[in-house]
Order: sequence, then C-alpha cells, then structure tokens
Amino acid sequence: MITSLIVGNWKMHGTQAHCFDLAQRIAQNLRRKPARADVVLAPPYTALAQVKRVIKNSKIKLGAQNSHWEESGAFTGEISPVMLKDAGCEFVILGHSERRHILQESDIIIAKKVDAAVRNGLRPILCVGETLKERRSGRTAMVIARQLRIALKGLVKGGIDRIDIAYEPVWAIGTGQTATPVQISQVHKRIRQFLKRSFGAAKAGRVRILYGGSVAPDNALTLMETPEVSGLLVGGASLKAETFLPIVHCLSKN
Ligand code: PGA
Repeated sequence: MITSLIVGNWKMHGTQAHCFDLAQRIAQNLRRKPARADVVLAPPYTALAQVKRVIKNSKIKLGAQNSHWEESGAFTGEISPVMLKDAGCEFVILGHSERRHILQESDIIIAKKVDAAVRNGLRPILCVGETLKERRSGRTAMVIARQLRIALKGLVKGGIDRIDIAYEPVWAIGTGQTATPVQISQVHKRIRQFLKRSFGAAKAGRVRILYGGSVAPDNALTLMETPEVSGLLVGGASLKAETFLPIVHCLSKN
C-alpha cells in the first residue's frame, strides 16, 4: 500500500511570523491527531528555517517550491538543491504551472532540475498539466506525455523511486473549478501507463500520483477516493489551518 501524500504549497505568501504561526497550528493539531498521510509544507524560501523549527519533533516534512539545477555558481537570485538540503528540505516542487507559464520554464529546464534534485537527495514533486486551450483541442494526453517524457528522460538509475508526480490541470489552479473524478482518473491512468512502459510495472506501481487544482475541505475526500489518486497538492486552502487540516484528515473519517 502506498502512503498518501498531502502537500501544502504556500506559494509567495506569508512573512516569517505568519508562516511560523501557520506551521505551528498545523503541527500542534497533527501531534494530537496524527494524519493518515505524509504531510509536506512548502513555505517560501524566507520562511524555511522558521517552519523547520516548528516541525522538528513532528512527522511533517519540509518542502521547497523550486530549485536550480546547478549545485552552486554565478546564478544571481537562485537557490540550489544543495542549499535546500542544507536548509532541511526533503521535498521540492518542480515544474509547477506557474513556473512553466509565468516564468517560462521549459520542459528541458524542468528535466535538469528534476535530475539535480534527485542526485542531491531531494524528492521532487513533478507537476504536469494541460491548459484549458490544450484540453479543449483534445491535446491533454499528448501534452502530459511530453511533459513526463522530457522531465524523466535523464533520470539516474532508480531515480523514479524518489519522485512523486502531481497532475495539476492549469485551468483548475486557483479557479475554484476542480477537475471531475472522471477527468482526473483518465489522466492519472495515462500517467501510470506511461510510467509502466518506461520503468516497468513494479516501479510504476509505487509512484504516488497527486491531484492539484482547487482542492478544498469539501472536495478532498471525493478526490482522494478517485481511482489512481494517491495524494493532493493544495495551494489556496493550505494557507489557513482551518481549511488545510480538514483536507489532511479527510481520510480519517472513513
Ligand atoms: P490551488 O493551487 O489549490 O490554489 O488551486 C494548487 C497549486 O497551485 O498547487
């Protein structure tokens, strides 16, 4: 059985004090009531140290929202996987649609980042997903296959065991328009098929495939019960303990 994964992606939100407080509320709750899933918090870089301090004696893991592909060098403004490891991160979100579309990251750049993260002992959460235009023109499967093929091509041997994948339709992110269970399971099944063809059934079966895009307390359980969904990547609803915790505990009600 795969352990599910719930990730809070705080994006570019929160001062150090705010992030400290939010992490503390989440950690306190999870100490009283352990989650039936792995939980990762991905605060902005500036709050990594604060959040690390808060989650020290808890099962919550620390994640970053991006990383560079080189370990060090003349890359003004960038943060390397070595630095993230040093800051206490175990996970890193890569290929998020905001980085692909707003910051123009290409599939090749994302592939370099995935490879560098794995080589440096971080666990990438590789995001893939189609835009509304791509979906409407029937290109969803093709776009996701391309994103996966390029991102995973240069992976070191055994690297697939150290990766989680998140399907995040671009049109569902921050819009309140969650993809339907049918749409999600169709794409997740294709992702699983791709992984089987590339890495064999045993390895493919162990990869967690998360869904992300307008996850909220009232849809979390339905999403988690959707075939092939092994976790959730949560943006907006992860910014408040009152909305994130019910998502983290959605499986506990069963
Ligand atoms: P959202 O964001 O939950 O606010 O839609 C998800 C994400 O961008 O990872």
